[in-house]
Parts: sequence; C-alpha cells; structure tokens
Amino acid sequence: MDLPFDGAISDFFENDAPKDVRKAIETAGKKDIHDPDYPYDKEMDKKEYQAEIDALQIELVRLQSHVKETGDRVAIVFEGRDAAGKGGTIKRFRENLNPRGARVVALSKPTEVEAGQWYFQRYVEQLPTAGEIVCFDRSWYNRGVVEKVFDFCTDEQRDKWFDQVVPFEQMLVDEGIKLFKVWLNVGRAAQLQRFLDRENNPLKQWKLSWIDVEGLKRWDAYTDAIDETLNKTHSDHAPWIVVRSDDKKRARLNAIRSILTQLEYKRKDPKNIGDIDPKIAGGHEIWNG
Ligand code: ADP
Ligand code: AMP
Ligand code: MLT
Repeated sequence: MDLPFDGAISDFFENDAPKDVRKAIETAGKKDIHDPDYPYDKEMDKKEYQAEIDALQIELVRLQSHVKETGDRVAIVFEGRDAAGKGGTIKRFRENLNPRGARVVALSKPTEVEAGQWYFQRYVEQLPTAGEIVCFDRSWYNRGVVEKVFDFCTDEQRDKWFDQVVPFEQMLVDEGIKLFKVWLNVGRAAQLQRFLDRENNPLKQWKLSWIDVEGLKRWDAYTDAIDETLNKTHSDHAPWIVVRSDDKKRARLNAIRSILTQLEYKRKDPKNIGDIDPKIAGGHEIWNG
C-alpha cells in the first residue's frame, strides 16, 4: 500500500530508536515481553486467557441485560498512547454484546464547526442514554495529551480544559452516569514493535498515521503530558484505572475485570470475574512503575 510514510517506522527503528529499545526488539522471542520492568517475562498462555475472557464475557452479557432493564448509563473512556491496545480491548469488551446497546465512539479530529464549539460539546452528544454502554476510543483526554504534544491547542486552551475536566466529570457522575477511565500503559519497545508489525501487515496499515510516525520521536513529550494529565485528572469521583498493556491479553482481562468489579448487576458472579492482578491494573502506582 502506498502510504506517504511507507517505511518510516523501520527507518526509525534502524536509525533513531534508543539502543535499549532496539536491542529489546531484536532479542525478544515471539512470546517475550520487551519491557524489563514488566512484572512477567512472557505473554500469558493463550488457553488460560481464552477461559478467562470467556467467563468475563458472560458477565458482560449479564451487565448489559441489567443495564437495559434498569436504564442505567455506562460510559467507559479508553485512553493510552498510540498502539496501547485501546481498539483491541474495546473489541473484546463488545464481542458478545448487542451492538445496539454498546456503542463505540471514535471521533476524528474536530471539524471547523466543532473546533468553534465548547471543547466537551461533541463528546456530550455521544454520552449514553438509558440502557446504553458507550466505549470511547479516545476522548476529551486528547486535549491533555496528543493536542499538547502536537501543539493542536494553545496552552491557554489546555489550562482551561484542566479547569473544566474535573467538574465536567463530576457533573456526569452526579447525573448518574457510571463513568470509567481506563489508561492503557504501553512500553516504548512494545509500542515500536506493534508499529513495525502494522507497517508490515496490509490489514493493519490503516492503523498507522502520521501522528504515530511523528510521535515516535516525541516519546518523552508524551510522557510529560500523560504524567501531568493523570495527576491533574485523577479524582475520587472519576479515578483512573491504569493498566499495563505490554501483554495485551493480561491487559484486556484486567481492564474488563476492573470495570465489572465496580458495577452492581443482577446475577453477578465473582468467580467469573476473577481477581484483578495488582501488578497489571490499579491506580497511579502502575503508571509510576
Ligand atoms: P488514532 O490513534 O486514533 O488512530 P491518530 O494517531 O492519527 O489516530 O491521531 C491521534 C488523535 O489526535 C486522534 O484522536 C485525532 O483525532 C487527533 N488529531 C489529529 N489531528 C488533530 C488536529 N489537527 N487537531 C486536533 N486533534 C487532532
Ligand atoms: P499520592 O501518591 O497518592 O499522594 O498521589 C500522587 C499524585 O498522583 C496525586 O496528584 C494524585 O492525585 C495522583 N493520582 C493518584 N491516583 C492516581 C491514578 N489512579 N491515576 C493518576 N493519578 C493518580
Ligand atoms: C490502539 O491500539 O491503542 C488504538 O486503538 C489504535 C492506535 O493507537 O493506532
């Protein structure tokens, strides 16, 4: 496929990647985890994963029928660096749900009209109605992170956003919307490995954008923006669930678990949910490593 940045990822890998990142990729076997600080050496066993995800999906189906019955509203924000696994986690989350009651919202960059509106406006329109679960694949958190890293907004606009985001979420929660914010935390080598895979796979190339390519050089700027955003937007009413996502399977299981654990629904079965792995999912201690 003819992409304007064709080869840009392997180019970065060959010429610009930090030595330790390059070495981690070169030496890793297929199932090895790249990040030396990750709590496990290998990816989770596939069979074990399948059994656990099946059990969780039974619970998600129960959750959805409860939500439909009671008219509850659930909004889940999935955030993380590019290639953190947002899309894949959302896919597993919705796999066995009735799509009519479990929408995905993945907005593109603001149109001219949207850019002239209150920043939260287009997201407000997408919030769940009674009986709905809405998964946000990226969200109003763009302003905290990618818009900062790429100068898509001014510092004044971002400061204003920081002033508004915590009260904004407070309003949603007061309104009765069940709000979850999941931050998928991917390591640098794992991210680069996923980009290399995407570059080589015609079925995945659509996932690569100019932002991904350019973002490779801006890892540290991202880190600063994420750090500030997580710290300033963590609140009692809307805390972050931080999930290590170098192993996608463990990440999906523990993200879904973290959400189900906090919700009440009919026929909830803790045995199906299982225990959250505190080395994989938790609060800011996971982000801080
Ligand atoms: P994704 O990771 O969702 O596939 P990209 O990596 O291309 O998409 O972009 C990351 C995010 O940055 C997207 O949510 C996109 O809408 C946003 N974005 C891209 N360009 C702009 C822009 N000029 N102004 C504001 N946001 C933008
Ligand atoms: P602490 O070490 O608990 O005093 O928290 C240090 C900073 O991290 C504070 O600014 C907290 O608001 C912030 N924080 C706490 N928990 C989280 C979390 N889950 N995600 C992001 N930031 C957090
Ligand atoms: C992800 O995998 O995290 C996203 O859904 C896709 C991307 O980052 O390009």
